[in-house]
Amino acid sequence: MNHQIIPMREIHLPQVAALEKLCFPADPWSEALFREALDNPAVAILLAQGEGGAVLGYAVLSAVLDEGNLDDIAVHPEHRRQGVADALLGALTDFGREHLSALMLEVRASNAPAVALYEKHGFAAVGRRKNYYDAPREDAILMTLTFEEIPNETEAAE
Ligand code: COA
Repeated sequence: MNHQIIPMREIHLPQVAALEKLCFPADPWSEALFREALDNPAVAILLAQGEGGAVLGYAVLSAVLDEGNLDDIAVHPEHRRQGVADALLGALTDFGREHLSALMLEVRASNAPAVALYEKHGFAAVGRRKNYYDAPREDAILMTLTFEEIPNETEAAE
């Protein structure tokens, strides 16, 4: 399905909250939490909007100084494997490359689709938090995408 990437606005709250419940039934963000995020200038929420205004997916990035955290990303089950998450994450990493030094995230160790998505976009596993998630209890893998140029050893020695 065709879609466009747009910033989330207040009118999208009910659709986003419903999609969040569908994608994370055990521990969804509430509509109130999305509203708070919308009002927070340090948070960016992007939507993939399909025909007729349907919200196909969304992604949430929060920034503290020059570091970003990918707080949430989800795509409607009927619209998965069609490049929607690719488009959302691509837009956020483009933003990060211009404005941030790094992006970080946590992901359930068993969430193979998400880990593959993040690896495709250049994230690397940098650590593990034991029993980070509940229902079911599971470790989180910490992943980072660094944008800063790292000087090579010769330059660093000069
Ligand atoms: N198996 C393996 N890799 C997968 C995958 C799957 N089922 N789904 C996505 N990927 C990876 C692939 O690398 C894919 O690239 P490719 O098509 O070139 O192989 C890449 O992700 C992009 O795929 P895309 O079609 O854009 O992903 P999507 O729109 O289906 O969304 C998720 C991917 C993870 C966001 C989606 O499965 C989802 O909403 N899951 C539930 C919510 C969730 O777990 N969010 C992450 C929380 S950390």
